[in-house]
Amino acid sequence: MTDKKATLEIDGIDDAIELPIYSGTLGPDVVDVGGLTAQGLFTYDPGFVSTASCESKITFIDGAKGILLHRGYPIGQLAEQSDYLETCYLLLYGELPTTDQKAHFLSTVGLHTMVNEQICTFFNGFRRDAHPMAVMCGVVGALSAFYHDSLEISDEHHREIAAFRLIAKMPTLAAMSYKYSIGQPFMYPDNSLSYAENFLHMMFGNPCEPSTISPVLAKAMDRIFLLHADHEQNASTSTVRLAGSSGANPFACIAAGIAALWGPSHGGANEAVLEMLKEIGDVSRIEEFVARAKDKDDPFRLMGFGHRVYKNFDPRAKVMKEAADEVLAELGIEHDPLLEIAKRLEEIALSDEYFIEKKLYPNVDFYSGIILKAIGIPPSMFTVIFAVGRTVGWIAHWNEMISGSYRIGRPRQLYTGYTERDFVPTSQR
Ligand code: CMC
Repeated sequence: MTDKKATLEIDGIDDAIELPIYSGTLGPDVVDVGGLTAQGLFTYDPGFVSTASCESKITFIDGAKGILLHRGYPIGQLAEQSDYLETCYLLLYGELPTTDQKAHFLSTVGLHTMVNEQICTFFNGFRRDAHPMAVMCGVVGALSAFYHDSLEISDEHHREIAAFRLIAKMPTLAAMSYKYSIGQPFMYPDNSLSYAENFLHMMFGNPCEPSTISPVLAKAMDRIFLLHADHEQNASTSTVRLAGSSGANPFACIAAGIAALWGPSHGGANEAVLEMLKEIGDVSRIEEFVARAKDKDDPFRLMGFGHRVYKNFDPRAKVMKEAADEVLAELGIEHDPLLEIAKRLEEIALSDEYFIEKKLYPNVDFYSGIILKAIGIPPSMFTVIFAVGRTVGWIAHWNEMISGSYRIGRPRQLYTGYTERDFVPTSQR
């Protein structure tokens, strides 16, 4: 809270309305509009462009400067010096773990990597060609039917177990959704492996041979999870908070987050980027697609460009681009045609007046698909991998909300439908 106040004068209302202003540790001040309801007024902000929906201590973004901090630590430093599970600990508990805390955290995640065997039978109900995100929406929500001993949301210990279960089981379920789609047996987790290695083992291993996992690819996979770990109040996280605000259980809330993530404007963009690069097909066709993206009458957008908050380079995209170069070099892929198209597209878009004026820069999804494709992950799994990485962010926000004071989320509306009218019987219509 500051001493600053906003004063709102409204035609037809005699007294000016005073609204308190709050300051955070970083970022713009916020005007508390809660008092407007008593005056018979609501604010109107479609898409929540100017609305802070909550107070949070987890992640900070300065979109103009391209800054992303988790609990104060810059994303570049975390990507360089930390790893995914350590970042999970940081997001959940607020501080980096000591050596002992980290070892305990890792072993506890390991205790929860298997899923109840009954869950395996769920998969048979899906078509083999189902989109893995459709499968994930279903099976993650269904976890609430299996883990009744962690559903008491007012119990801190239950919330912690649910967090461990979700972080540990998401890679298992993600890999199962892939194995099911290609008709291969599910692979049980191997807890002697790291989080990323274990995911690659469950994705690409088979029961007939020991898994061989490239340390380079495991490091790249870990970095992809880390770069997706949290991003403050984005559409899926806000969905998780909103679902959670009604008192719904954490597994159901995360399933709601997965559904929100699936759309191409959000997490679905990584799959869409690769499809777009394939459709462009050749560097010579880039101009044509850039022209389409600029055409007001064409719904086509350059996927992987633009962001609601970043009006400067997405700091995650910078790390992702470096990682793409590293992975391709390690794999000996000297000329990846899609990477060539991506790099040229980026150059052209960044020098084009339309993209400069609208501050449309490549976002995290622009390069992640190139790395995932090089690792051998099919495009339909890209958004699932985003969901695996983001699960910790969703849980951290859900837990922050539930452990503090909160009210059910209930936005209002500007109603523009009919005024009251009398029912007309069928015979008189
Ligand atoms: N290609 C062409 N024009 C674009 C693009 C694009 N990718 N993105 C925005 N614009 C234009 C848009 O047409 C609008 O123009 P005008 O002002 O003339 O109407 C202007 O830029 C502002 O766009 P907006 O849709 O009002 O901005 P928004 O903040 O509502 O949407 C966005 C942000 C990410 C949904 C949008 O930029 C987009 O659709 N990008 C492509 C999809 C994508 O890459 N999504 C991944 C986001 S990052 C990962 C994540 O966090 O989920």
